[in-house]
Amino acid sequence: MNKYINVGLVGYGTVGKGVVKILEENKKIALRKVGKPIRIKSICDLRSIDKPELYVKNFKDIIKDPEIDLIVELIGGYEPARTIIIEALKAGKNVVTANKAVLAKYWDQIFTTAQDCQKSIYYEASVGGVIPVVQGLSEGLASEEILEIKGILNGTTNFILSEMTKNGVNYEAALKSAQNSGFAEADPSFDVNGIDTANKLAILSSLAWGDWIKVKDISVKGISDLDIEDVLITQNFGYDVKLIGSAEKTKDGIDLSVQPCLVNHDHAFATVENEYNAVMITGKDSGDVLFYGKGAGQQPAASAVVSDIINLSKFIVTNTAGIVPDVVYDKRIKIKVLHSGKSKASYYLRFSILDKPGVLSKISGILGKFKVSIASLTQSDISDNDCAQIIIITHKTCRENLEKALKQINATKSIVKSKVVKIKIEI
Ligand code: HSE
Repeated sequence: MNKYINVGLVGYGTVGKGVVKILEENKKIALRKVGKPIRIKSICDLRSIDKPELYVKNFKDIIKDPEIDLIVELIGGYEPARTIIIEALKAGKNVVTANKAVLAKYWDQIFTTAQDCQKSIYYEASVGGVIPVVQGLSEGLASEEILEIKGILNGTTNFILSEMTKNGVNYEAALKSAQNSGFAEADPSFDVNGIDTANKLAILSSLAWGDWIKVKDISVKGISDLDIEDVLITQNFGYDVKLIGSAEKTKDGIDLSVQPCLVNHDHAFATVENEYNAVMITGKDSGDVLFYGKGAGQQPAASAVVSDIINLSKFIVTNTAGIVPDVVYDKRIKIKVLHSGKSKASYYLRFSILDKPGVLSKISGILGKFKVSIASLTQSDISDNDCAQIIIITHKTCRENLEKALKQINATKSIVKSKVVKIKIEI
């Protein structure tokens, strides 16, 4: 029996350095909870590091090390992250990862391997930074039939949207500000195009409903073409714009989407600003359960990783890690996914139309033809000589009907001056 819980760390970037720091600073807390000291035995990275005594060049040497109990994968991306996780499990190691991309893409392989090898994989930091939503969903709400998961799951985009809303700046300026504040990567494409949120939604949905929900099942739209004009107009209508990952159980399947949405000023999500995330999980018996906290940044992510290390170490000490699988992945469970066209919601529509008689009746005629019902109609002040801005809020409508109507309206150049803007109204 080792004197320590020996950890091998693969990836010594921002989060990896945070993990080493927190483990060092909080070692008494960890010891009290685990009953044995936790130590980082080896660190693998592409570059040499500031702790040469721990440095290992090849991750295979960590996997082969018989003293190592637990491998922490923090390199991100698909490969070699997938290989490291799979090989570590096969070598009898338990794993902690923050890697949402690899989990969402290889959910079946990773959890089948963990089950077969009777080893554990913990991944709290992969969704919502420091927020304990993975544990909350899989343990705290274990008894629940989950009806809905909705979340602001990406700190970078939430920071950008907060900047646009608070300072009235356009998307490009807000992105620069997020980069300057350290909340957006030099290449923020996975964040701003919604893929990061989709990965996290896929993980939560797979956990909630027992089948592997894939990113390709999710209809995804990011924030990069969001016009500041719409952020400002919708503010006056009582809404904030948020990038929301949504999974909703309907009688025809799970309705899955990631898109910029409007939320009422008085909804809990409206107060979620900057790098903060929030997830609302609705269970049949629990009702709404709200999780909130920092979703991005070094310390929040590292804190979640260290919590996983501590929680997993408790089972390693008693030799019970992985005996009961953390995620029961059962290939026989098949969950139906709703076709995105069948999704129903209310929408905000902004039309830049020619300001002349008959145009409005043509628009309402086309909307009516496709069964899109108008709840309210307003002419915005932002109009010039021959062009008017019309804002329409729809009643709940089927997405494919709305898209057909907008396609016809957009194609009628005698009506509209530019493409109609459409934003889902979430709450
Ligand atoms: N890039 C992510 C975000 C942080 O901005 O939320 C890690 O998941």
